[in-house]
Amino acid sequence: MYEIEFGRRRMAVPIIQGGMGIGVSLERLSGAVAACGGMGVLSAAHAGYRAEDFGARPVEANMRELGTAIARARQIARGVGLIGVNVMVACQDYARYVKTSVEAGADAIISGAGLPLELPSFAEGRDVLLAPIVSSAKAVKLICRSWQTRYNRLPDFVVVEGAEAGGHLGFSANELVGKTARPLADLVRDVVAAVNPFAETVGRKIPVFAAGGVFTGKDIGELMACGADGVQMATRFIATEECDADDGFKQAIIDSREEDIGIVVSPVGMPARAIQSPFVKRVASGVRERIVKCVRCLRGCAPADAPYCITQALVNAAKGRREDGLFFCGANAFRVDRIRKVDELIAELMDELRAFRAAAGCVNPGTNGEALRVGDAS
Ligand SMILES: Cc1cc2nc3c(=O)[nH]c(=O)nc-3n(C[C@H](O)[C@H](O)[C@H](O)COP(=O)(O)O)c2cc1C
Repeated sequence: MYEIEFGRRRMAVPIIQGGMGIGVSLERLSGAVAACGGMGVLSAAHAGYRAEDFGARPVEANMRELGTAIARARQIARGVGLIGVNVMVACQDYARYVKTSVEAGADAIISGAGLPLELPSFAEGRDVLLAPIVSSAKAVKLICRSWQTRYNRLPDFVVVEGAEAGGHLGFSANELVGKTARPLADLVRDVVAAVNPFAETVGRKIPVFAAGGVFTGKDIGELMACGADGVQMATRFIATEECDADDGFKQAIIDSREEDIGIVVSPVGMPARAIQSPFVKRVASGVRERIVKCVRCLRGCAPADAPYCITQALVNAAKGRREDGLFFCGANAFRVDRIRKVDELIAELMDELRAFRAAAGCVNPGTNGEALRVGDAS
């Protein structure tokens, strides 16, 4: 077993399924991943988009449905693994989403798309793991220093996300298009070196999970050899039976070719990776999509000036509408060839990881008791 411990909580599989909004990772996917011993993560982003009252009262619908989805994920997981919720710092009503998730019994809150400097204040006195998503050592140092000084606490784990991830990215469009961003393996080494001195001050480990383009068990093994304790993977989980998005989204991933995957800029100026769907091509050509109704999603979005409504485009994708959807995906989406069941995918990844560790000379390749050295991973 690759057991990772967080106090009373444990994961037997070193995989976090990354939160995917809107509507891509809700109860079914996160519950299935947790049931396999990993961490299943729901996305808080418009978790209520399927509700009848979403149009009229989006925030209320989201809070209610998020709580229900967390409870359902727990039922599916049957006490195995962990259930987390991804709440983006950039979303409106951030504090309420965090509090609702904690109240509903989430094991962990994972927060990126901005620096979650205030996150501990929304979970004060609550037994919940808190984790930032960062794309540099500088960001994680800033968060650790700030949390330690202001709240006397440190992250329970950290996700380091590289440039090959899907959705909003912590790199400039130039770095992404020019492929000059620091490679994930280097970011992992930087972030591990940055968090270790903080971890020493409290006498416990701060596990680091590597994200962005992770595709095989060999990739997981290589990142572990760089110091990661595990990985966060998202795109591969889209093409699963249990993924909460419509089959049309899953098929769009399977059909995508390498040249179909590119960078788009969201209405708030953040670059993101997505399939270059007909919708993305229309926006890139300067067509301004009609915004029917603003449901207050990202902070800093001005509907009057926005080229399109990101909520509408992501909901269209979740419903599988090829023409009008914004289909976020990681850089390796084109390698996905078929829909699997979550347990089949995880078993395959773990077999590959074991094989990689055995080939690198581990005596017990099926456990993480033995650290791999960086040089072993070539
Ligand atoms: C469809 C999709 C939606 C995503 N939505 C979110 C989100 O709401 N919040 C977030 O922090 N990250 C989001 N991400 C990023 C993932 O959680 C993950 O870190 C990243 O995609 C990992 O790279 P991979 O997809 O290559 O495995 C999204 C990614 C995808 C593909």
